[in-house]
Amino acid sequence: MEFSTSTATSLHTLKAQALAIGVFQDGILSPAADALDQASGGAIRAVVQSEFDAAPGSCLTLHAPAGITADRVILLGLGRQDSLTAAILAKAHQAFAGYCVSAGVGTAVSTLCALNAGDASPTDCARTAARLVAAATYRYDQTFSRAKPAVKLRSFTLHLPRSKAAQAKTGLEQGAAIGAGVNLARLLGDLPPNVCTPTYLGQTARGLAKQFKTLKAEVLDRKKIEALKMGSFLSVAKGSVEPPAFIVLRHTPSKPAARKAAPIVLVGKGITFDAGGISLKPGPAMDEMKFDMCGAASVLGTMRAVAELDLPREVIGIVPSCENLPSGSAVKPGDIITSMSGQTIEVLNTDAEGRLILCDALTYAERFKPAAVVDVATLTGACVIALGHVNSGLFTQDDVLAGELLAASRQAQDPAWRMPLEDAYQDQLKSNFADMANIGGRPAGAITAACFLSRFTGKYRWAHLDIAGTAWLEGKQKGATGRPVPLLTQYLLGQCGA
Ligand code: BES
Ligand code: MN
Ligand code: ZN
Repeated sequence: MEFSTSTATSLHTLKAQALAIGVFQDGILSPAADALDQASGGAIRAVVQSEFDAAPGSCLTLHAPAGITADRVILLGLGRQDSLTAAILAKAHQAFAGYCVSAGVGTAVSTLCALNAGDASPTDCARTAARLVAAATYRYDQTFSRAKPAVKLRSFTLHLPRSKAAQAKTGLEQGAAIGAGVNLARLLGDLPPNVCTPTYLGQTARGLAKQFKTLKAEVLDRKKIEALKMGSFLSVAKGSVEPPAFIVLRHTPSKPAARKAAPIVLVGKGITFDAGGISLKPGPAMDEMKFDMCGAASVLGTMRAVAELDLPREVIGIVPSCENLPSGSAVKPGDIITSMSGQTIEVLNTDAEGRLILCDALTYAERFKPAAVVDVATLTGACVIALGHVNSGLFTQDDVLAGELLAASRQAQDPAWRMPLEDAYQDQLKSNFADMANIGGRPAGAITAACFLSRFTGKYRWAHLDIAGTAWLEGKQKGATGRPVPLLTQYLLGQCGA
């Protein structure tokens, strides 16, 4: 995909297979729509009045309109003019990108980032547009016997005033990198669990390190994980014959001056299949537990974006990865294990395995003396009940870090919602036989999971993102979303003052 900006003055002589213009409710045209309406002798206004309500996300195609050189003009509904938001512009760009891909459009131009929406800058608008367009070109065809037809969309241009062009260019560049990161995360999530194993995730990290010279990958095998005394991680891994992997992927910025600040560490849950272990899950929809490595996928996807942009900040991605299966060698309810931190854990439910692999990764992260650690995990069904499929759950006791992550989530159109994390919930993890139990009962299940993790994060600033509801879609559109790569990359951009 080629991303560019255009500041050409006459819109009606622009050559493109699809040209997007914004239309508001009550027949109000955006400046671009108005210009084209005049060039076409009133064709736009006529169709808007007769059959377009301009609801957010709606679109209508005009083929070969007179007086306009673009093959098609796509009207994009933006709702009421006085309540235009960056989210509505994103929705319109998503509809436009989806249209272009399904109609086989090769060259697309959008005028939407010329509009002012809330507090979103031209950079924000362009970044979001580019990552949505890049994501719209994603097509999973790895495991079909016949390849699907290639996506034709090859160029996306933002048409805007000269005063906004430089900012938009920066945004397009960031958005292209984020989009590629999102698509990597989606591919890893979508691949079947007999392909996307811990070993495969390790190879993916190595592949990234080959592709981007700022990245260095290290993949620890079972022996090295044992040497580190990661008893908690290993207790989950031992139920499967599939070898575990502990992946460390490190971005060192090419500018030496950018290497001074303490690194930011991202930790991603990499359970490549979660059957529940001895506490076996019920059968229906169990296939979706191949997505239980989406935290890991989002960390790898974010590292890809970070490397492509050569972000001026050291960033380290850590992925503990294994399967959670029942077997004669699997961890049992009642077993007590010793984590790398030395704290002991009574395993009351082997299906609460995410926290068991993450806690050792969080202890490992201490060695980097990080400025902040953010872990990402499809951790609890309870988080899906609490927040549905809209918001990722954000848990932290650090108000500053919470503010930064929430701001990034809004700026990136990748929403998260802060959940409580008070010490009062810690009591639910009390065990009669170990320092803690691995479950806290049904009430506040997403919070007690975060409480469990918090016990391993005393040495640095830390936040946890539960993406159980946002990492993939169910039903007919079943597939990974690539979230929260946009949120994480935005947060990191912010930490670089970008
Ligand atoms: N991977 C699951 C969480 C999950 C469930 C994500 C459904 C998305 C959809 C996790 O390992 C798990 O099984 N959690 C248990 C914890 C419980 C045993 C305390 C859960 O949420 O039921
Ligand atoms: Mn589980
Ligand atoms: Zn799980």
